[in-house]
Amino acid sequence: RRKIIIDTDPGQDDAAAIMLAFGSPDEIDILGLCAVAGNVPLKLTSRNIRIICELCGRTDIPVYEGAEKPLVRKPITAEHVHGSTGLNGPVLDEPTMEAQKQHAVDFIIETLMREPAGTVTLCTLGALTNVALALLKAPEIADRVKELVMMGGGFFEGGNITPAAEFNIYVDPQAADIVFRSGMPIVMMPLDVTHQLLTTKARVSRIRDIGTRPAIAMAEMLEFFERFDIEKYGSDGGPLHDPSVIAYLIKPELFEGRECNVEIEVHSELTMGMTVVDWWNVTERPANARVMRKVDADGFFELLTERFARL
Ligand code: BDR
Ligand code: CA
Repeated sequence: RRKIIIDTDPGQDDAAAIMLAFGSPDEIDILGLCAVAGNVPLKLTSRNIRIICELCGRTDIPVYEGAEKPLVRKPITAEHVHGSTGLNGPVLDEPTMEAQKQHAVDFIIETLMREPAGTVTLCTLGALTNVALALLKAPEIADRVKELVMMGGGFFEGGNITPAAEFNIYVDPQAADIVFRSGMPIVMMPLDVTHQLLTTKARVSRIRDIGTRPAIAMAEMLEFFERFDIEKYGSDGGPLHDPSVIAYLIKPELFEGRECNVEIEVHSELTMGMTVVDWWNVTERPANARVMRKVDADGFFELLTERFARL
C-alpha cells in the first residue's frame, strides 16, 4: 500500500484522479490532499477538493491549502476549459467540510520528515508551487520522497497553453525548475501520454451507467470538460490528464517510457515553461526523470471505471 500526498487544482480531470485514488484503498493510502492555485484560484481548488471528498464520503482525509500564486509569475487560470468554478458540469452542493489550519507546504514537509524515508509518494496534478516552496524551506525532503509522480509537460506533442508549454508547467516554470533540479526521483506524465486518454462517448457512458451519485457526477463533469476539445479540435473526447498519475501507482504496466534528462525553460518568453526532454540522449546531462510516452488507453479506462464503481 503506497502512502501518497495528492497536490491538486481541481479541475474535472483532477477530480477523476482523486476519485480513482478513493476507489483504490488496497493500493493507495492518501495522507492528505493539498490545494494549489491553477485551473481556478486557490479558494476554489480547495473548495472543489472538499466537494469531491463529500461526494465520495471521504471527509476523513485532511485537506490543506497551499500557495495562492506562483513563485515569480502572475497567476494564470483555465476557466475556458474547466468553467467558472473549475468543476462545471454537475450540480454540486457547497462543502461543509473545512480545510485544515496548517499550510499545505508545512504539511508536506512535516509528513516527509515524520514518515520513514522513501515511503511517501508525492502526486502532483497542478503547478509545482507547493512542492517547490517545500524544497526551498526544507531541502532535505528531496532525499525522503519515494517518488514524485506528476502530470506535466509535453515534448513531441508540444504544448496546450502555448505552442511550447503545457499548462501545469507554464503556470509556474520557476517551481518546476526547482523540482527537476532537486534530485527527487521523478515520474512524468506529459501530454504525449495524456492525449492518448480520450473520454469517448462509449467510455463516458460506461461511467454514467455505474449509476451511483459519484459516477453520474463524474460523467457530467467529463461531458463538460470534453466539450472544449471536441469543439476546438473535433476530437472524440477530452484528454483525461491527471488520473494517469494515480493509474501509474496502481498499474505501472499500463505505461511505457524511459529515463531522460528534463530541463525547464525559464528565460525565453516565447518558449517559457517548455519541458526540454532529451529523449534521444543527445546531451551528456544525467537523467533526472522517468518520462512516459505510451499508455494502454483501453486498460486505463477499464481500471478507472472499475474503481469508480467501488465508490
Ligand atoms: C493539466 O492542466 C490542467 O488544466 C489539467 O487539470 C491538467 O492537470 C493539463 O495540461
Ligand atoms: Ca490539474
